[in-house]
Order: sequence, then C-alpha cells, then structure tokens
Amino acid sequence: RDIFRPQRQNSRGLNLADLELLEQCRQDLAELSLQTWDAAPLVPGCRVAGAALAIFSPFERTALVGNVVVCDAQTVDRALANAEQAFVDWRLCPVETRAACLHKAADLLEQHRLKLVSLCMREGGRTLRDALAEIREAVDLCRYYAACALEQFDQPLRLPGPTGEDNRLRQYGRGVFVCISPWNFPVAIFVGQIAAALVSGNSVIAKPALQTSLTAMLCVRLLHEAGFPEQVLQFLPGEGNQIGGLLLSDPRVAGVAFTGSSSTAQLINRQLAERPGAIATLIAETGGQNVMIADSSAHEEQLVADVLQSTFNSAGQRCSALRVLFLPEQTADKIIARLIGAMRLLRVGAPLETTTDVGPVIDRRALAALFAHIDYLQDHAKLLYQLALDDSLKNGNFFPPTLAEIPGLSLLKQEIFGPILHVVRYSGDDPKPVVDAINATGYGLTLGLHTRLNDTVQYVQRHARVGNVYVNRNMIGAVVGAQPFGGMGLSGTGPKAGGPHYLQRFTTEQTQSVNI
Ligand code: SER
Repeated sequence: RDIFRPQRQNSRGLNLADLELLEQCRQDLAELSLQTWDAAPLVPGCRVAGAALAIFSPFERTALVGNVVVCDAQTVDRALANAEQAFVDWRLCPVETRAACLHKAADLLEQHRLKLVSLCMREGGRTLRDALAEIREAVDLCRYYAACALEQFDQPLRLPGPTGEDNRLRQYGRGVFVCISPWNFPVAIFVGQIAAALVSGNSVIAKPALQTSLTAMLCVRLLHEAGFPEQVLQFLPGEGNQIGGLLLSDPRVAGVAFTGSSSTAQLINRQLAERPGAIATLIAETGGQNVMIADSSAHEEQLVADVLQSTFNSAGQRCSALRVLFLPEQTADKIIARLIGAMRLLRVGAPLETTTDVGPVIDRRALAALFAHIDYLQDHAKLLYQLALDDSLKNGNFFPPTLAEIPGLSLLKQEIFGPILHVVRYSGDDPKPVVDAINATGYGLTLGLHTRLNDTVQYVQRHARVGNVYVNRNMIGAVVGAQPFGGMGLSGTGPKAGGPHYLQRFTTEQTQSVNI
C-alpha cells in the first residue's frame, strides 16, 4: 500500500549541536526568564475581573512566572453563547481558509519558539530539550491537520446512484467543542486538540490545566493572530472542578476533547450523558499502566538506554512513559545492575543544560503523591535504588529517580505519574502470561518490547490490546504523521492524535441526495 503522507513537512526544530545557536538560545532564555506573564479569560463581551492567582516555577518554588485570573460562571455562560453564535458562520467557512489559519499558526509558533520554550520550562517544568521538542510537535500537528483537512473535507465524497441522481457525503463541524488539556504538554496537546477542532469547522472553548495557564494564553494569542476569530476560539482558564461542571452540563456543548486522567474522562462522560439536549461526542486520551517486555534475546545495552529514556524523560510525566519493566529470570539480575549503574549517571535539575535528563514534577501535590507511593512500595515491594538528589534542588519539585521490584502488575492500583520504574521478573521467555496481565489491567496505551524473536513480535502485536506498540526502541515521543498516538480501554476513546483519522471524530456528516 502507498504511504499516507498528506502534503506537508514536519518541522526541523533547532539544531542544538550548533554551539553558537545554543549559546544564543541560552542568552535569550536568560533574558526571557526575567519577564512575568499574565493570563485571563478571552471571551468577547466579558470584562475580566477578579483576583489573580500567582504561578510559581516547578524548578524553583519561589520564582514567580506570572498571574492568572480565573473565570466565573457568568464568563462561562457568555463564552458558550458566543461560541454557539460563531459556529453558524465558521461551519461554512471554506476549509482552505481554516487550513490557511493553521499554517499561519504553525509559522507563528516557530517564530515565537523561544518565548514558548521559556514558558514551558518556567511554568511547566520542562527541560530545554523537552520544551523544544514540544514546540516542534505543536507545529507539526498544525501543519498535519491542515493538510488532512484539505485532503478530507475540501470536496464532498461523490457516491453512486441511479441516472439522474447526485449523491454526495459532506462533512461539517459538530458545533461548540470544549478542549480540556493537561499541564504535561502545555503547548503540543493544548494546541493539537484546538487545531483539530477548529480546522474541522467547530467553534472552540479552550480550558487549559490551571498550572500552565500562562503558556496556554500565549498559544491562544498566536492562534488569534493567525486568523482564528476571537469568538471562534475562546479561552477559559480556571480549576477543572469549577468550570468543568458548568461547561459539561450545558446542552450547547456538542463535543469535548479531553486529555488527562482516566477517572476524569469517566466523570466527563457521565456529565455529558446526564445533561439534556444533543448527544455529545467525547474524545478522551487518558492514562496508562505502560509495560515494556524484554526477553532473553534482548540487546542489553539498547534495552537499558531505551528503558531510561522511556521512564525518566519528562520526569516520567508522559502518559506514554514506561512504568513497569518485565524481565526474564535468567537475565534480570544482570539487567537490574546495569540499570542502577545507568541511573547513577542521570542528571537532575539544571533547566538550561541540554544534558539534563530529569526535570521537576509539576507541583507539591504531584510530589506528595509520589512520596506516598514510595511508602506503599516500602510496605509491599522491594526498593532497589533511589538516586540521591543534590541539596541545591530542595526548592524545586524534584523527585529522585527510583527503581523498585514488585511481584506483579496487580500491585499497582493506579497510574504512577513520575520518575519511578517498577520491575517484575517472569519465568521463561513466553510473552503470553505477560500480555494477559497487561490486558487484565484494562489500560491500553503504550507497550515496549525488546526481543530478536519474530514470533514474539508477532504474538505481542496481535494480542496486546494497546494503542502503540514499540519494538526494540524507546516507547515515548510519538512523531506526528508517523506514529499516530492514543490508547484503548481505560486509556482512551481514540481516534489517534497525529494520525489520518483524528479529524473525522470532530465532524458530522450530511448525505446530500439530489434528483437532477
Ligand atoms: N505523545 C506523547 C508521547 O508519545 C505522550 O503524550 O510521548
């Protein structure tokens, strides 16, 4: 079959091997770090009022990044009324115009890359490398969805019929889409969801994670500058449990794109189901209990490098991140020793260094949850290693990379969102019981496999009910257009972000049958 490759190219990002460029980048970021930012609801017709909440950096809890004014019930109501009204015209706006706005947005994101990188780092706790990769992903998502929209929505699908009858299938936006995004990808996921909804012809109310409201506000400003009208894209910062209920119980909402925890997705699903009015669509991308399986044929050095990358990159705060490594009895001790050796070399902290491996976790609450998990492991498992952190990191939300051995997957009752790797030993090289255990969790996001046995690859691909299977490589950082991303079961509804079918769920179809 032909490779599906809509007309566009992925962003080239920045070449950090160019030392002059890197130095310039550091200087610019140092200058930007002196700036404070403001965020507030962007809802035409509403006056912004209310007390502002201060946002401090996860790297340094006393460093102010900016202030956010959260919205109230009146603002939510006005935003819904605006969005409903704006949809009438936006739905009929030619797809070329909508796609052109997205291309322009991609250019603007690249142009303002360093401001976004600075905010992602200071507000979101991202490392320099992660932040750069994230802006690049957001740019790729804009260009990819623009190209998909042109390919899929520009012309209606012509269908057969008897002589004299013209049959066509045309796609339109669904209506008011609420996009609720997480703090762990404050640019890529935030922009990706919005971009897809807008280019498909929906009006959008964007509700970012409160922790990364400042980054989100800058993205919305750039999207407006790119040509998306202010009523078509509105911005509602605030606490999920305050704004969420108001939005999700309102019959004017036609669809929700949500990325976050499985339990919140289930709550949203219930709220949407219980309200009167049209049946809303939910696109949810949620958590995982992601496993990597190694067998005794695995290339050990490659395995250790991929495990480290998959577990500790972004301080484990990726929904794709590795949580549990299954090792065969016969090689487990050797691999654990190698893993500990490699973990000793992990560099934690230092935001402006490209060599930093692990940044902070998002806030004190996340930190406390990870420490509580360590207490739980101390009672139920064996702690194998924990990196000692430098005293200079004590003012940031840093959690020490940790390795623990557990008896089985069922010990983990929920997703552990941080830099903790659990190891389970299994006997023989038979992947079947491991795949059964993975399927029994109900989660199905990413799965890593290290083996040189083709039969094992085939077996795991066929039987594991997960969204993304990665063989003999790391299991994070899905590339737009090449590795469409998203899970099944407790891990999400699909369709996959950055994939050819993503936009379809944001639209509704009309069959147009004309007797000529
Ligand atoms: N898409 C990200 C990854 O692949 C996770 O959200 O790592």
